[in-house]
Amino acid sequence: MIKTDLSGLSAFLPDIPDLKPARRELARLRKGTDADVQFSGWLRLPETWSPKLSSAVKDAAERVCSNSSFLVIIGAGGSFLGAKAALDLLSDRTANNVRPEVLFIGNTLSSTEIEHTIERLGEHDFSLNVISKSGSTLETLAAFHVFFKLLKAKYGSQAEKRVYITTGTEGGPLRKFADENGISAFDIPSDVGGRFSVLTAVGLFPMAVAGIDIDAVMTGAREELLSGEDAALTYAAARQSLYKAGKKIEILASFEPAFDSTALWWRQLFGESEGKAGRGIFPSTCSFTSDLHSMGQYIQDGERSVFETFVSFAERGSPLAIPSIPEMTGPGAKLAGRRFDEMNSLALKAVADAHIAGGVPLIRIEAPEISPHSFGSLVSFFELSCAVSAMLSGVSPFDQPGVEAYKNNLYRTLGIDR
Ligand code: PA5
Repeated sequence: MIKTDLSGLSAFLPDIPDLKPARRELARLRKGTDADVQFSGWLRLPETWSPKLSSAVKDAAERVCSNSSFLVIIGAGGSFLGAKAALDLLSDRTANNVRPEVLFIGNTLSSTEIEHTIERLGEHDFSLNVISKSGSTLETLAAFHVFFKLLKAKYGSQAEKRVYITTGTEGGPLRKFADENGISAFDIPSDVGGRFSVLTAVGLFPMAVAGIDIDAVMTGAREELLSGEDAALTYAAARQSLYKAGKKIEILASFEPAFDSTALWWRQLFGESEGKAGRGIFPSTCSFTSDLHSMGQYIQDGERSVFETFVSFAERGSPLAIPSIPEMTGPGAKLAGRRFDEMNSLALKAVADAHIAGGVPLIRIEAPEISPHSFGSLVSFFELSCAVSAMLSGVSPFDQPGVEAYKNNLYRTLGIDR
């Protein structure tokens, strides 16, 4: 289970945040009948996960593994960040991992980036997974045209067998393309929004291709939703108390670089859910200890409108220790024999103490380990806390009028009907 520790707030908030309003919002969310919370289908995904759904995802993943060296994922925003988060945190990077390499594109209009992905594919065998709930996101469609053309040129009439489409059930251009070309599509349920969709095929299919145990992910997610709500509500309530106390920027930081992409998934989840109606905590991320040598200055000493949330893992890291170099003198020589995981934990404590003393409140979130189960728990924890936090601040967590405004403007500028 995920733990939330608020001891780093005691110098900043007079009282422990009251959980009653958060509990009321959670009850409203679970009921799901009010207009602002109707997109709450993600809450039910882990409990409705079944062997049949699991097999459908795994069978498709096995087909990709049997015939492809690369899987190209084409998607933007909520349609790729969750999968990238899981893969970067959990993928086996050892030399004997023979799974296809997963490349991400469809989130940019940079021709350089697209060309670079084409170069990476070279002459290798590949498959495509295009992901878009609406089926009309311009960056995604543009990239799909490029990579589908490549696929057609390479595989001719067999190309469609290498296309995996993940899209909304309400129609849309990708659903139509799938139906008309005999491509079976994975569904994104209508009551699950893009940024809350990682536990559908949006995230699970790429995870399965990468060899991640998707059933363990879903078990972690389910257990957290069943028994972890207090930790999530505590995080939500604490964030809102800090916001009211003038702390308008949250930095989510971890001391595990493999977590960086999960932090970017978190940034979208909270930024797009809360930043509306002229309010919302600005979510930003840091990777420690690396960013202590850059952003550490601002956090310690800059404007006092920042609070931090550290995500850590209870399990110890590998026993890797610093070897001795007999010829070395000075502080380096005294490091010999120290384990990296111990130094990383000590760094966390040193940073926490320094930042709190410098006027930066700290929330701590701890997951048991870096594993598929813990990843699922973290997804449920953050989705729940995000939805409740947005509701506490009086906005609907599930719309994104600002993103839609950008998408509509881009199409209008190009003179294309959406
Ligand atoms: O959370 C959201 O709704 C957005 O970030 C979408 O995921 C993103 O804009 C991509 O949309 P779509 O899946 O329709 O291509």
